[in-house]
Amino acid sequence: MKHTLARSATRALFNSAARHQHGGGACGSLFWRRMSTLPEVKDHQSEEKKSEVNRNDSSNNTVVPSYWGITRPKVRREDGTEWPWNCFSPWDSYRADVSIDVTKHHLPKTVTDKVAFRAVKFLRVLSDLYFKERYGCHAMMLETIAAVPGMVGGMLLHLKSLRKFQHSGGWIKALLEEAENERMHLMTMTELVKPSWHERLLVITAQGVFFNFFFVFYLLSPKAAHRFVGYLEEEAVISYTDHLNAIERGEVENVPAPAIAIDYWRLPKDATLKDVVTVIRADEAHHRDVNHFASDIHHQGKELKEAPAPVGYH
Ligand SMILES: [Fe+2]
Ligand SMILES: [Fe+2]
Repeated sequence: MKHTLARSATRALFNSAARHQHGGGACGSLFWRRMSTLPEVKDHQSEEKKSEVNRNDSSNNTVVPSYWGITRPKVRREDGTEWPWNCFSPWDSYRADVSIDVTKHHLPKTVTDKVAFRAVKFLRVLSDLYFKERYGCHAMMLETIAAVPGMVGGMLLHLKSLRKFQHSGGWIKALLEEAENERMHLMTMTELVKPSWHERLLVITAQGVFFNFFFVFYLLSPKAAHRFVGYLEEEAVISYTDHLNAIERGEVENVPAPAIAIDYWRLPKDATLKDVVTVIRADEAHHRDVNHFASDIHHQGKELKEAPAPVGYH
């Protein structure tokens, strides 16, 4: 099993490196075009590759006849146009609450809080040294990590619910929603920034380390783990504020928003990168609140299920 995973990771990495060399442009590979919501650039891709793209075209979901009778019912936008995404549905989309206070900070009081805060600040120094002023790249790499804690926390609460024959109070759903929301941030960022092969290698390594670290961390102390994530989210808010300031100063081009972002956050059709970064920052501020709240519940000696879960809190 371990070998199979290692083989798949290596294959993915080297396939990507090969495409990087032969695909033209920074990671201008088939993989990225398949994911891209930007207008497709005509090139010399083979017919075989074209048909692979068609099979993955979300608007063409009856290409493979299903013996099992599985077809997705036609879904439309409010304006009657066909919904083009298989990866999320109109009812998963929302308008971000951008009125949220992005300056809020939890003052570290206990030893646990102080350790969590210092650890996040230390990681921040490292990431600033690595990424410097590359805001888009920084955001994309950050999102590959940010989508892990919600999934680990949700999974562990799910298992606990099964083990103890008890309800979770909605917290499984709330944490999985956070993970999915973070993953959508990543899907949006990958429309704008294409990772190089060494960045992909860094992501694979970081995911392997961080997933296992956070899994053990959450098992040992969900109180500290949620506080740690709360501070990570505070740093994410700061990073996206820096990103917004760079756009306003003209250092980062305010390009049109990717189509996936327009549908996910119900943005106007002429939305730009600035609108996208603004709604993502609002999401991060909501995650900050959820995780500090979860830690506070534990600090009061209670379990998460004893407090109302912030399901749908964006
Ligand atoms: Fe995020
Ligand atoms: Fe977040």
